[in-house]
Amino acid sequence: MNLGILTGGGDCPGLNAVIRAVVYKAIRGYGWQVTGIKEGWKGLMQEGLTIPLTLAEVKDIQDKGGTILKTSRTNPFKTENGLQLLVDGLKRAGIDALAAIGGEDTLGVAYKLSAANIQVIGIPKTIDNDLSGTDYAFGFDSALNIVIEAIDRVRTTTESHSRIMIVEVMGRHAGWIALEGGMAGSADAILIPERPVDLDKLCDRLKKRHAGGQTFSIVVVAEGAKVSLDQTLDKEGSFIVQEMRKDEFGHVRLGGIGTTLAREIERRIGIETRMVILGHVQRGGAPSAFDRYLTTRFGIHAVELIHSGETGKMVSLRGNQIVAVPLSEAVEKTRTVPPELFEQAELFFA
Ligand code: F6P
Repeated sequence: MNLGILTGGGDCPGLNAVIRAVVYKAIRGYGWQVTGIKEGWKGLMQEGLTIPLTLAEVKDIQDKGGTILKTSRTNPFKTENGLQLLVDGLKRAGIDALAAIGGEDTLGVAYKLSAANIQVIGIPKTIDNDLSGTDYAFGFDSALNIVIEAIDRVRTTTESHSRIMIVEVMGRHAGWIALEGGMAGSADAILIPERPVDLDKLCDRLKKRHAGGQTFSIVVVAEGAKVSLDQTLDKEGSFIVQEMRKDEFGHVRLGGIGTTLAREIERRIGIETRMVILGHVQRGGAPSAFDRYLTTRFGIHAVELIHSGETGKMVSLRGNQIVAVPLSEAVEKTRTVPPELFEQAELFFA
């Protein structure tokens, strides 16, 4: 058996730890060969992007950020004959089965490949934690720890200067990082993509809070939250984007809602408001202990599934158990923050 492995989409802490686990289980557990495919799906569509992976290549990489295989947002289905190019790439590299590590876009392609009779198992990765079918994707916990440290740090300077601080975090369609980071960091307001931002209400709340004796406020906002600067013109609100150009999966580049909010809040209520955009800091560096352990379990289970002939599945954490769910379930819909969880966070806003 020659097992192919690739990492696709945005990187995050834990990718190298999962690569290591897959390679160890495949080689030590079953005596297989492993082929690393570089730069996500691009590595199958182009020649010269595959490398043999041995224990030596992956030894001691569990604590390293990024991915030794590199990554890309290449969407094979944007190319004519994309599916055929993938199949040809697998044949060229002599790969019999594939472990695909990624989020909704990468696993969406994996699902289509499995429907074309290629043996594929998916491993869920995304700091946004918005994949259905699993309680946790890896990368999320590491990102959350970075967010909490940042909030703790901005809290002291915000308090010293009696300001409002907007902390912008990642989260394109789902506000898990903002919600859990904001709750753990004791934010005074949390803004998520699932609920359009009512700027009038937010300003009103902050004004009352400061008039009532509070001297500073921390507002955590997800980059994908939608804001309306004029409710009469735009009731639902819109994304704040850095660039309208879309990637191959149709996503615009988000970011900057923190700047807009800070400017508008200060203009409307006259309280000095600053902002910090955490951006890719959230995706860099070493994985947390939780993510190192989770990725190790995910990697081992993925190889076991391939060994038992399974395909079209994703490894998943349910409670404390690693199980397999259909890839179709994972990519079918985005896992968003339910209203009852947001209501819990609201208890702490005042
Ligand atoms: O999908 C994960 C994510 O981190 C999103 O939160 C963010 O919008 C996006 O990736 C950024 O991707 P890139 O690094 O390609 O700009």
